[in-house]
Amino acid sequence: MKIENYERHYVAGLIITVLLIGALGIIWMNETPRMDHQAEEVMKESVLRGREIYIEQCAFCHGSTGQGEAGPALNNKEYLESVSDRIMFETVSAGRPGTIMPAWAQGNGGPLTDEGIRDLVNFMRLWEENAPEMAEGFVPDPARGMTVFSSSCFICHGENGEGSPAAPAINDQNRLATQDNDWYRDLISYGRPAKGMPTWRAVLSLSQVEDLLSLIDAWRAGETVAAGTPVADLLIAALFELEQGEVDDTIFYLDRAEQKAFGPILENFSSVRESLNDDQIEEALNQLITMNADWPIGNAEEGKSIYVVYCRKCHGAEGSGGIGTSLISNDFVLTNSNSELLAFTLSGRDGTAMGGFDGRLSEEQIADVIALLGEWSSKD
Ligand code: HEC
Ligand code: HEC
Ligand code: HEC
Repeated sequence: MKIENYERHYVAGLIITVLLIGALGIIWMNETPRMDHQAEEVMKESVLRGREIYIEQCAFCHGSTGQGEAGPALNNKEYLESVSDRIMFETVSAGRPGTIMPAWAQGNGGPLTDEGIRDLVNFMRLWEENAPEMAEGFVPDPARGMTVFSSSCFICHGENGEGSPAAPAINDQNRLATQDNDWYRDLISYGRPAKGMPTWRAVLSLSQVEDLLSLIDAWRAGETVAAGTPVADLLIAALFELEQGEVDDTIFYLDRAEQKAFGPILENFSSVRESLNDDQIEEALNQLITMNADWPIGNAEEGKSIYVVYCRKCHGAEGSGGIGTSLISNDFVLTNSNSELLAFTLSGRDGTAMGGFDGRLSEEQIADVIALLGEWSSKD
């Protein structure tokens, strides 16, 4: 009797099954790389087109390798890490009104299609991996360092680095003579979190740290660098200290705010001091909160002559508008406090013709213009 050899079929079936799964697996496994490969090809072509456009249109101002010429360096980590593709696309597309950086999109009167600009972005993005940390030719600047110090450091180290009850002096000749800048760079970058000195490298860019070191150099050389802490920040620092119950620190910042303040607010400082003297902390807090809310009050009449010189060329006679927005019954003016409008005018709006007036106009002059804008928008 012939014994059916089932085992043979079984083994064959098993082999076929395994082969089938294997084949499918191979197809599946190949699918992703094949798609990747396609995307890679598309990207490669885009980059090549972008490179061509770059050499023709951009290299003249930004350098053939993006190192910067008449235009800023684009080939540096600091810039490339800080912008998304979308922002880069929009910058190239719209240009920077008021500078020599033209608008490139056809929609904005330029020569390039949206696809061409995407090609450019893909090309410039390739620089990122090997880009130098900082723009070549970057020169640290003590005044810029002071701007950083005035926003990130003054609250503990005092407005001119003279120290406060919260942290030691930095602007101290003896101390500055004992440590070199490598030591300061490490200390600022990594901080001493356990002792209350924050780790700044996470927040500040490399060039901001270098700017701070050049401020430290200036102090070491005995130079004075004008502190730019806005009155609003000093008032907030005073308020913050009082909320912590630190009366000495409150007075420290109150004094500094008073030295820089102007207008009707000046009458309020002595009342806060009186409340503090009488241990009326609650009362002093309320007074400080009101001072913060009201700051700054400018003079619209004075603002007119400043407006004519500094704002009219873009915002038109009497705020009627032009390159800049119309400032009559303007929502932005209506919905922002005077203090916010002051901060806005000091710093400007990134990527637009609205540049900052920090260093060009004093806080008092800007407050006067803001009072005028308030009248134009019937703000009370
Ligand atoms: C005539 C000179 C000139 C040409 C040509 C030019 N740029 Fe510019 N570009 C500038 C200047 C100047 C700035 C800085 C403007 C400013 O002060 O904000 C700038 C800024 C930029 C920025 C923003 C950099 C930053 O730090 O925020 C990008 C991105 C840029 N250009 C890309 C391009 C590309 C891409 C092209 C070619 C299609 C190009 N530029 C052609 C002069 C030029
Ligand atoms: C929250 C408070 C605080 C802030 C904000 C702060 N620091 Fe400090 N910093 C400290 C304290 C506290 C120490 C002392 C740490 C210790 O005892 O070791 C210190 C120490 C230092 C020292 C060393 C001083 C010395 O001679 O030993 C430097 C330099 C310094 N800070 C720089 C900065 C800079 C620059 C910034 C702003 C980017 C800053 N700090 C912001 C609290 C602060
Ligand atoms: C070089 C041209 C230019 C100058 C000079 C200028 N601005 Fe502007 N400003 C603009 C542009 C452009 C905008 C709109 C920016 C945007 O597109 O978001 C603007 C926006 C504003 C806004 C916000 C309006 C809104 O609706 O968002 C205010 C407020 C303002 N400017 C006030 C001033 C004041 C005050 C001055 C004078 C001290 C001044 N500007 C000088 C160009 C300018």
